[in-house]
Amino acid sequence: MRINLVRLLLNLSHSLDFSGQEITHHHKRVALMSLQLGKAAGLDENALFELFKASILHDAGAVTWREKLDLARFDIMDTYDHCLRGYKLFSNGFLDSIADTILSHHDRWKGENQTGKSKTDIPLASRIIHLVDRVDVLTGGDRNILDRSREVLSRIRELAGEVFDPDLVSLFEKLSIKESFWLELQAPWIEEHLIPLIPYRSITVETGDLLKIAELFARIIDAKSPFTYRHSLKVARVARLLGEKTGLSREDCDHLEIAGLLHDLGKVTVPEVLLEKPGALTETEFNIVKQHPYYTYWWLKTAAPQSLLAEWAAFHHERPDGTGYPFRKAGDELDLPSQLIRAADIFTALSEERPYRKQLRWEEIESILKSQAKNGGLDEKIASTLLSSKDELT
Ligand SMILES: [Fe+2]
Ligand SMILES: [Fe+2]
Ligand SMILES: [Fe+2]
Repeated sequence: MRINLVRLLLNLSHSLDFSGQEITHHHKRVALMSLQLGKAAGLDENALFELFKASILHDAGAVTWREKLDLARFDIMDTYDHCLRGYKLFSNGFLDSIADTILSHHDRWKGENQTGKSKTDIPLASRIIHLVDRVDVLTGGDRNILDRSREVLSRIRELAGEVFDPDLVSLFEKLSIKESFWLELQAPWIEEHLIPLIPYRSITVETGDLLKIAELFARIIDAKSPFTYRHSLKVARVARLLGEKTGLSREDCDHLEIAGLLHDLGKVTVPEVLLEKPGALTETEFNIVKQHPYYTYWWLKTAAPQSLLAEWAAFHHERPDGTGYPFRKAGDELDLPSQLIRAADIFTALSEERPYRKQLRWEEIESILKSQAKNGGLDEKIASTLLSSKDELT
């Protein structure tokens, strides 16, 4: 499986941008402005590509809606937590080259930062992201963006040399003299402005690196709530085991593992209060939960249209009898790998604690899986393969 890296990162950024009822495109706007400013500051192609990766993922360390909404306030002082969490997420693995940039992306120019850095010790990419990130926060709201742009510029000018790198502020002022600079930020086709600025936009990643990226995002997804701590990692492990037991090829098992890691990518669209609610969900709340596999599907399908990764990952709430959600797939429409992910997800969820119950014992899990298999919720053969793997699973 080969996936275009830029497309994948753009899609994954959607998942970081959910903090209300819709995608806000904050990361894309920050990436668009960062690349323009980086180019004006004379960065070469390699540095611009690093800047793209860091800017499109810069707030990956902010996982809860609460935190994301806080960061949308200009005067927020407590920013270090999400920087440090982002740094730890990225510091080993496929995207380790952006870890330092992420750590310092709220460092103030003059110093007194928890990173211990000031002025030009702060990575240039961090200084760029810091400035345009705060510009983006200031430009939000309902008023005409050109009306607002003047206030934004005077605000950042006031803070040049204190909070922001003064040279970057001057460069930014020159760039943003064009009305089109601001209008592009609001355009529904913002990607059409952003993509041509990204160097190396046709490079692809293959299975090995994809596994590393998927693991990184699994950690982001799982960090949303203590109840889902390591959930995606476990689903991937169980799915792989089931894949091996049912005779799938090594390549398919790798893909199954990636699908397992990303199956709940769409969970970021569900506010954490619902994941942590001690009682039963209301119909309205359940409707919000039901949207998560749809988003998983969409983000993966548009990133990897040639493969079945999206189907494998996103069909985990589809039941063989056709009464699952959100696609109402049934019987033959659900291939073996999709059903393996479903079984792995159900098993893993039952073996974890939930706000409304303790984790279940093997005997309890066994009886639930058997009754699911009997009433059309789970494939019978897969259920018995899983139940015969007690030693590996406990
Ligand atoms: Fe941030
Ligand atoms: Fe941000
Ligand atoms: Fe799910």
